[in-house]
Order: sequence, then structure tokens, then C-alpha cells
Amino acid sequence: MEKWLITGANQLLTLQGAGRPKTGKEMNDLGIIEDGAVAVEKDTIIAVGTRKEVESEARKRWGSWEKVNHMDATGKVIMPGLIDPHTHLVYAGSREDELNMRLNGKTYLEILEAGGGILSTTQRTRAAGIDELVEQAKARLDRFLKNGVTTVEAKSGYGLSPEHELKQLRVTKRLNEEHPVEVVSTFMGAHAVPKEYQKQPDAYVRLITDEMIPRVVSERLAEFCDVFCERGVFSVEQSETILRAAKAAGLIPKIHADELEPTGGAELAARIGAISADHLLKVSDEGIRALAKAKVVAVLLPGTAFFLMAPFADGRKMIDAGVPVALSTDCNPGSSPTESLLLMMNLACFHMKMTPAEVITAVTVNAAHAIGRADRIGSLEPGKQADLVVFDVPNYLHLTYHYGSNDVERVMKKGKWVV
Ligand code: NIG
Ligand code: FE
Repeated sequence: MEKWLITGANQLLTLQGAGRPKTGKEMNDLGIIEDGAVAVEKDTIIAVGTRKEVESEARKRWGSWEKVNHMDATGKVIMPGLIDPHTHLVYAGSREDELNMRLNGKTYLEILEAGGGILSTTQRTRAAGIDELVEQAKARLDRFLKNGVTTVEAKSGYGLSPEHELKQLRVTKRLNEEHPVEVVSTFMGAHAVPKEYQKQPDAYVRLITDEMIPRVVSERLAEFCDVFCERGVFSVEQSETILRAAKAAGLIPKIHADELEPTGGAELAARIGAISADHLLKVSDEGIRALAKAKVVAVLLPGTAFFLMAPFADGRKMIDAGVPVALSTDCNPGSSPTESLLLMMNLACFHMKMTPAEVITAVTVNAAHAIGRADRIGSLEPGKQADLVVFDVPNYLHLTYHYGSNDVERVMKKGKWVV
């Protein structure tokens, strides 16, 4: 049984008190311990505190220091393994050609309507075999890990038929088994209307509710169900139909809400009891009030605004209104091809007016709540899974200050050093 004693951290960010998503001023409280230490046994944290506290706790439990591995983190910052609660991890190919089209004046929706965008990635993903998709996604997971990310949510949505949606979800399952990063699965058959159903979108909605959802549930391939609720994609009414069917079958609803226009997706998320509402670049004031009241986690994706050259979601306004905010990369081939959650944290500070402490809460505790995992991950507390990152920076403010860099030194996942 492997034992680790990590000591000397300049700042150990515990994020303790993670029983519910953090809101308002709580988002600035990182539970910082100076001269911080952590003791880990197997895959679990057994003690957190100052060096003195943790050493005495560990000695009581272990008796001697024999067979205890020691890591000196003097001068460093330690925090929970980062969590990315919104990615489109599994797909084939890339779309740099569309970036070029957008930089020459076309819009994202124009490209999608002309059969590009999500539909072009769907074509390539359908043509790819499981092994090929696994290999491409593993390369992305390697990059996530180097960025300190130890858990990601991953959506289907580039299959858009029963056969290919299930194939994508089987890839997700294999990734979770074969790669150290933990992968949490979301079914998103409602990512776009496929070409074959362009003229009868409601028939595609029925295919999702009557065939895809039951198969996803019976094969236990996902925990969550997401819908791209947007004009020209799935209406509020269609989204509600899909999410109600998903909920009745045991999947937890999530929504791509108010990304390109104020569509009413946030209000739907609150009404239906979604665990998160994501994007929200164009959310209305009523939408924000509804999210705050229902305590739906707002997952904000600054990389998407950056890459689509759109105005950023108003993170400041949402936090001040009492909405629990999380951050994510949205990692996908069309609107945010990145695995750098660290860059997202920087963008959120500089373009969403979030504070350096709030962005850390947003990629740990609140991200864990957005994927229903806060009982195990997102904070450093005794009994929690031993997922942590050691940054080679003297204090957490450096993560915002020294921008565009990667100061991750080591990453522990389930008690094992994986970076
Ligand atoms: O989250 N909004 C919809 N889906 C993705 C984009 C996917 C793509 O362009 O391939 C998003 O931004
Ligand atoms: Fe997305």
C-alpha cells in the first residue's frame, strides 16, 4: 500500500467545505494553509493541515515513517486536481479550414448551416473506428493532464445516429478505463440535427427520446444528457422534450444555453432542474435570476468566446447575482480546440472580471458540483480522492500573473504521480 507525505507547501489550497457549490463571496475563500502538508494512503487523502498537524496525524496512523514516501513541496502551491466539466473530447479530425473562413468574415452559424461545423466533424467521426477515436482522444487527455486536469466530462454529439452516438460513448468508456484522467460521460445526441433529418427535425427528436436515450441508459453509457438549445439547432420546446425524457430515464440534464442568442436556455435549465447550464454568453437577466434561485451551476467557457471572437459571458454579474460559477475549456474541434484550462482561468480573470481566487474555485469545487462528483473530488479533505496538482509558483496569484505559461510541476491522480 503506497503512502505519501507531502510537506512544505507555501500555500496549500484545500477548498474545504465543498458540500454545496460555492456562491458569492464564498468563491474567494480557498481555505489556504501555509506550510501546508498532505498525507495520502493508497488513493485517498488521510490528513491535510500544517506540517506539524499532518505529521502527528500520520504518525498515529502509520506508527513509523518506514515505507512512507516523502515529497518536499517547499516554495510551491498545491491544490486539488483541476476538473474540466464540459468537453467534446471524442471526435476525429480538425477544422483549421473553418477558422480561416471565420477569419475571412464567415460566421459560425453560417458555416454550420452550409453543412460545415459540427456536421463536418460528424462525417469524419462516423467514418472513424473505435481504436482511431481512442488514440486521438488519448492525445488530448495527455495534454489535459499536463495542464493539471485530473477529471474531464466528455460529451457525445458527433455521431448523431444511434450507431455512432453509442460508438462515441463506448470510446469514452474505454478512455476512462485506459487513461489516468477520469472521464465522466454525457450523451449529447442533440448536438445538431444530422443531414438525413434536416427536413424533419422533430423525427430526429423522437429518435433521440425513443431509441437513443433508452439504449444509452440500458448499456449504462452516460450519466448526463445535454442539448444544444439555440435558434436553428434545437428550440426550447424540443430541448425540453429531450431533457424530460432523459430525466425520466435516469440521466441528469445539462444544457448548452444562450450561447449565440438569448434563447431561454438558462430559464429552461432552472425549470427542469438541470445540474448545469453552460456557455451563457447571451443569457438574459431573468435567466441569471433563475439560475441563482435554482442553484444551477453556470459553466462558463471563455475559450469559446475568445476563439469565436464573441463578447465574453458576464461571469462577474453571475457571481454577484448568486449563481455558482464553474469554468471549462469546451475542448472541441470547432469553437475551442484547446486543453488549457489554465488559459481559461486567465481569460476569465481578464475578460469576465473574475478574481484569481474565484477562478480556482470555478475549476475545482464548483466544477466538481457541475458533474455530480463533489463527494469525491474538487477539494483536499480527509476521505477525498487523492487528486492534486503541485505548481512551481510561490503563491496562487502567480497563476494569473504569469500568463500563457504552464507551471504545473507534478500531478497526482488517485494517489499515483502521473506527471
Ligand atoms: O460547445 N455549441 C455547440 N457545440 C460546441 C461546438 C462544437 C463544434 O463546433 O464542433 C460548443 O461550442
Ligand atoms: Fe460545448
